[in-house]
Amino acid sequence: VLRAVMFDLDGVITDTARLHFKAWKRLTDEQGWSFDEKLNENLKGISRIGSLEIILNYNKVSLTPEKKHLFAERKNSYYNELLVDLGPQDILPGIQELLMELGKKGVKRMIASASKNALRIINQLQLGPIPGPYFEGIVDPDSVTCGKPDPELFLQASERANVDPRDCIGIEDAQAGIDAIKAAGMIAIGVGQGLKHADKTIHDTRELSYSFLEKVFERY
Ligand code: G6P
Ligand code: MG
Repeated sequence: VLRAVMFDLDGVITDTARLHFKAWKRLTDEQGWSFDEKLNENLKGISRIGSLEIILNYNKVSLTPEKKHLFAERKNSYYNELLVDLGPQDILPGIQELLMELGKKGVKRMIASASKNALRIINQLQLGPIPGPYFEGIVDPDSVTCGKPDPELFLQASERANVDPRDCIGIEDAQAGIDAIKAAGMIAIGVGQGLKHADKTIHDTRELSYSFLEKVFERY
């Protein structure tokens, strides 16, 4: 039976994927590095430093670890500037209702995000505290050694929830995230277009509800 739902944050609960793009664009424009929406797709679900490395590789730029650290921090400060106005109005449609429904049914709700800004964002969306009315738990990305597409983040989420991975659904907007969910042995729901290997793909978070998740879960 369905006992827990693992939520990605950026692009599933709120549309911060767009803000990550803007922040990277500001940094890469300053540096004269090329960067576009297509490359940005490869950064979804990937850690801050991992994302920078993808951009550097693409531009055939090599940097010392110290320099990389500085650029990653600068991107984060640009990103944090963009987060200032984020509020409950930015929760994607249907998500808050889904969280409440799952809570009523006793299905655990976990955050499985690679973002070190996740708690701040959850609080600004007024979906905190954790544990609280909307989420039972969150994985600390600093405690994860292998990021998505490795299953570690999702496996930690199921351990924290004390639920077998086979009783979990993961919801993701990134290919790396879908691959991580499947590697963890969970059912994967993809949000968006062009996601491979998802058990079910939706185009809009409004399609999510408890009965929808149950149907997907029972089919697989
Ligand atoms: C999520 C996003 C990525 C981002 C990563 C780290 O996985 O999809 O685009 O790079 O989190 O985010 P952070 O807030 O720690 O820089
Ligand atoms: Mg995401």
